[in-house]
Amino acid sequence: MDNLLIPKDYFDSSIFKTEMETLFPSCWIFAGLRRDVANDGDWIAVRVGSTAVTVQNNQGELRALHNVCSHRFAVMRTQSQGHGPLQCPYHGWMYDCEGNVSAIPARPRFSDLDQKKMSQMRLRQFRVECCGQLIFIRLTPEGPSLREYCGEVWGSLQSFSEALGSQLHATTLRIAANWKLVIENSLESYHSGCVHPETLGMDRSYRFKIHTGPNFTRYEEQISATVAAKWGRIKKAFSSRPLCLDDYVFYSLFPTFSIDTMRGATFALNVIRPLSLSETELHSRVFATRLSPPELEESALVRAFNDYSIGMAPLVIGQDKAICETVQAGLPQAQYSATLSEEEERILAFQKCYMSQLSASS
Ligand code: FES
Ligand SMILES: [Fe+2]
Repeated sequence: MDNLLIPKDYFDSSIFKTEMETLFPSCWIFAGLRRDVANDGDWIAVRVGSTAVTVQNNQGELRALHNVCSHRFAVMRTQSQGHGPLQCPYHGWMYDCEGNVSAIPARPRFSDLDQKKMSQMRLRQFRVECCGQLIFIRLTPEGPSLREYCGEVWGSLQSFSEALGSQLHATTLRIAANWKLVIENSLESYHSGCVHPETLGMDRSYRFKIHTGPNFTRYEEQISATVAAKWGRIKKAFSSRPLCLDDYVFYSLFPTFSIDTMRGATFALNVIRPLSLSETELHSRVFATRLSPPELEESALVRAFNDYSIGMAPLVIGQDKAICETVQAGLPQAQYSATLSEEEERILAFQKCYMSQLSASS
């Protein structure tokens, strides 16, 4: 199979500009988990393409607002998470939950600032919807609801997110590669043998199933007999987990979100944020499963399994970072489009979606 994207698509600045200005705004982009904004006044800040956005809990309701001050355009919330009212750090302007300017220090000195101008300075508000515990935002007002966008994976994303227990690990990593390379690397296991020889690539005798749809991919890997035997010995400790799976299951939602689980026992949630044409941030969080009663989460077997998952994550992510950077260096020298195996089929699904979203939004 041939790659649909050509090498230039990964290092052309005009393409990156179009992606940030038209593709990302028209997609549902993962912002965080409901637990990140659990209380009234909690907020998170993210970038959607090139737009800074903040999502705030206002008395239980989530609102997404442009995170750029209307006075002289400072980005207001520069941390990823916090609590309290929306106030610009530059001159202290404040905004209410609708994005209206609610307070201006030394207001009489703006003698020509009338009501009309004040209402023009209201912050843009964006769509925000949840699938279970997952919060997504979308910049353009028109287009499908989050539910329509997720399609047939809506229920699975919902149940995966509801099964998340305590967070075991979180990493943010900068990768010197185009965001599409980082996504595509996450959408194939073919590289495991070479890139992750001591962990994921140790046993390549697994079987896999791939299912793709308009905005998603699903990958299921049946564990090998060796791994199944090991899992059989500890499985009982996880019998009360909400998602009783025996395999590895991975979902991606176009363009930058994925959630996967190792047999419903641990979960990884990844989101990619493009920083520039050749720089990408990867946010990765690892979670335990919920168990009932919750005391079971502290049992020795469960903790050992969780420790194994945490231990593996930084190693695997570091290896992926290094290989993506190598590909970014090689791509400008490519003479033709890449070739894909059946194990890399999800990349094709990603690229089909990329092309149709791009043509629909431009
Ligand atoms: S730039 Fe925000 S208050 Fe001045
Ligand atoms: Fe990898």
